[in-house]
Amino acid sequence: MKVIIVTGASSGIGLSIAQHLAAKGNNVYGVSRSKIHEKNIKSIQADVTQFEQLQKAYQDIFEVEGKIDILINNAGMGISGSIEDTSYEDAQYLMNVNFMGIFNSTKAVIPLMRKSGRGKIFNMSSVASKLSIPFQSFYSSSKAAVNAFTDALANEVAPFKIQVCSIMPGDIKTGFTKNRKKNAVDSEAYKKRVDKSVAVMEEDENNGMDPEVAARAVHRLVQRKRIPLYYTIGIQYKLIVLLAKILPAKFVNHIVGSIYGFKKDK
Ligand SMILES: NC(=O)c1ccc[n+]([C@@H]2O[C@H](COP(=O)([O-])OP(=O)(O)OC[C@H]3O[C@@H](n4cnc5c(N)ncnc54)[C@H](OP(=O)(O)O)[C@@H]3O)[C@@H](O)[C@H]2O)c1
Repeated sequence: MKVIIVTGASSGIGLSIAQHLAAKGNNVYGVSRSKIHEKNIKSIQADVTQFEQLQKAYQDIFEVEGKIDILINNAGMGISGSIEDTSYEDAQYLMNVNFMGIFNSTKAVIPLMRKSGRGKIFNMSSVASKLSIPFQSFYSSSKAAVNAFTDALANEVAPFKIQVCSIMPGDIKTGFTKNRKKNAVDSEAYKKRVDKSVAVMEEDENNGMDPEVAARAVHRLVQRKRIPLYYTIGIQYKLIVLLAKILPAKFVNHIVGSIYGFKKDK
């Protein structure tokens, strides 16, 4: 039985992963600001932007269980709107949750995994890390930062037998869509395009995969002896990520712009 921590386990992908891993007989702790009312998941109320909260929680788990096998850094959020209209505070908060939250959680767990001489850390990135979406620039940037963090971390902790993986899901139908924070003001110069772009994003997400697809994929990953550095969820998204890798960057960015940019509406 593995001891697994899942952040952002109160809803959506994190809840589905936590439920699935617990149903498979693992000892699962779920971290989120709200309480998790699931009988197989041990709820820890903590904010990923607060390092001390995570450090204490993970230390307590380690003392009770004697080990932490797996950390799944899943907590995250989205904001939307033009870069010009985004407030410094909103951009900073998003980076605090999506990027610094992963830093806080990872920093809290590494010494405990080092004591055990092994561990696996999964960071929830997104296909948006590879295809930067207009009017979701800070979200895409935060996920690209997660990938760069994963790459560096993997080499830093390899001597301690700690493995690291960035998981990149495509669109999944969750509370993420309604929780996305929209810019307080969309100026006239962008409003029409932002509205259209956000409508496309929301439709994609609402028609997206079931979170259970992500849960099954993560379950398969946690059982592997050796995990990949990157794992994309969704067959069509695997193809998109592959094409983005081999085609010229300007061409790929142009295609993304033609789907989400509405440049002709200016
Ligand atoms: N849905 C998609 O299409 C999609 C695609 C690719 C990647 N992702 C990524 O998957 C992850 C989960 O997203 P989701 O779709 O499941 O969204 P969701 O349903 O909105 O769930 C977000 C989770 O993160 C937690 N959370 C947010 N801020 C937090 C904080 N400061 N401290 C602790 N927990 C916090 C929330 O719990 P509380 O509010 O209770 O704290 C909730 O459990 C995110 O990293 C997201 O970027 C989603």
